[in-house]
Amino acid sequence: MYVAAIDQGTTSSRCMIFDHAGMVVASAQKEHEQIFPRAGWVEHDPEEIWRATREVVAAALAKKDLTRHDIAAVGITNQRETTVVWDRATGKPVYNAIVWQDTRTDELCAELAGDQGPGRYRERTGLPLSTYFSGPKIRWILDNVEGARERADAGDLCFGTMDTWILWHLTGGVDGGLHVTDPTNASRTMLMDLRTLTWDEQICADFRIPISMLPQIRSSSEVYGQVRERGTLAGVPIAGILGDQQAATFGQACLSVGEAKNTYGTGNFLLLNTGTTPMPSNNGLLTTVCYRIGDAPAVYALEGSVAVTGSLIQWLRDNLGIINSAKEIEGLAAGVEDNGGAYFVPAFSGLFAPRWRPDARGAIVGLTRFVNKGHLARAALEATAFQTREVIEACVADSGVELTALKVDGGMVLNEILMQFQSDILDVPVIRPVVNETTALGAAYAAGLAVGFWAGEDDIRNNWAVGRTWNPTMAAAERDRLYREWNKAVERTYDWVD
Ligand code: G3P
Repeated sequence: MYVAAIDQGTTSSRCMIFDHAGMVVASAQKEHEQIFPRAGWVEHDPEEIWRATREVVAAALAKKDLTRHDIAAVGITNQRETTVVWDRATGKPVYNAIVWQDTRTDELCAELAGDQGPGRYRERTGLPLSTYFSGPKIRWILDNVEGARERADAGDLCFGTMDTWILWHLTGGVDGGLHVTDPTNASRTMLMDLRTLTWDEQICADFRIPISMLPQIRSSSEVYGQVRERGTLAGVPIAGILGDQQAATFGQACLSVGEAKNTYGTGNFLLLNTGTTPMPSNNGLLTTVCYRIGDAPAVYALEGSVAVTGSLIQWLRDNLGIINSAKEIEGLAAGVEDNGGAYFVPAFSGLFAPRWRPDARGAIVGLTRFVNKGHLARAALEATAFQTREVIEACVADSGVELTALKVDGGMVLNEILMQFQSDILDVPVIRPVVNETTALGAAYAAGLAVGFWAGEDDIRNNWAVGRTWNPTMAAAERDRLYREWNKAVERTYDWVD
């Protein structure tokens, strides 16, 4: 028997099938369109995503001639915060999904912050008021889509992050689909009380969001229901939901206090397990739910979310055309010795952790006639490593725990130049596990634990193994110079938007 994971990410949807050792048996992936209607707006078509999800599930099973009888459970993991509002009677979204990177709610967030500033709800939600989170996105839809507010007040509309949208479809859609999420996803809405794990009535009232449109919050690992949709998984229990970064933390076996991972995706997300009490941040990190397994107490994390890392490489490919595929960035960067003095600050959505500067916009600084596209490629890769160092410094300051090594995963960790530079700029070893697909694996673990496919957390720890380690080789003076110049470059991007 195997466990299947559906990973609905920012750029693609995937299905991966895992065996008991946590190894990938089969997988399939499909990209979906990124819709940019205006500067700063980012949308997805939720119906395209649901179609892609069905296709990748069927394709992954077909690769190994598997049927639903071979699958013990299915887990869901997803890009977090991305917001869909749909009609429960017809299943039709009232608007495209508003993606986590979208900054259209900038003014709305400032308005909601009022005199109390962006920290207004930090105590209760662990989050600063920011365009990043779902609550302001829901409010935008209710305010701007004709008739949406009336329909929401009448109880006709549902909100969901992508986990909820997919689960609702898998469990029957208009024909009684379950409207459920887990605490990791709910903790990214700004509407959930971190301690009680319930919707906060006062915040929902402040945001003018009817609680009737919000999903029920269940745990991250339990049988929610069976697949009822007449696809390839009909009858299989759906037994795990984790936001993708929390899933990667689980898949990396960061199950004890003080263990952390960093995922290199479209953005970068560092999560540090802080145990069963939420730890407030004084250094620009988020306090978030890491996972909740069945009836056990929730485990919390500190998170450093960096908005743009891998998506900068996509931007170089799609908007500038200096590479044809993301993989080419490494060859281009390898053609030069260093960044040639150039620094690339990808503040495309403002800056997230630890600086939280919605007024920043991207910049390339330090340009001279000497700089060529190889240097820019290198500067783009280095931006990922510098931003990671910033969130790690914040994590160390908040938790008092020194970093001795960094566990990494995600698409960009196949890039040797980046990983070596990451180790150099942090001055600690960087470790990639044998199974780099930790996001999908984490969702599979959550589902598999709930049905007894894995007996407990020790199975997860035992399955984790080191794949490759990079050790620091850079002289301290050079490391300090580079980081100092990076900081100067970042400060140049401030106050760009009023
Ligand atoms: O918070 C956003 C994050 O969940 C997106 O992850 O891997 O889809 O870029 P990813």
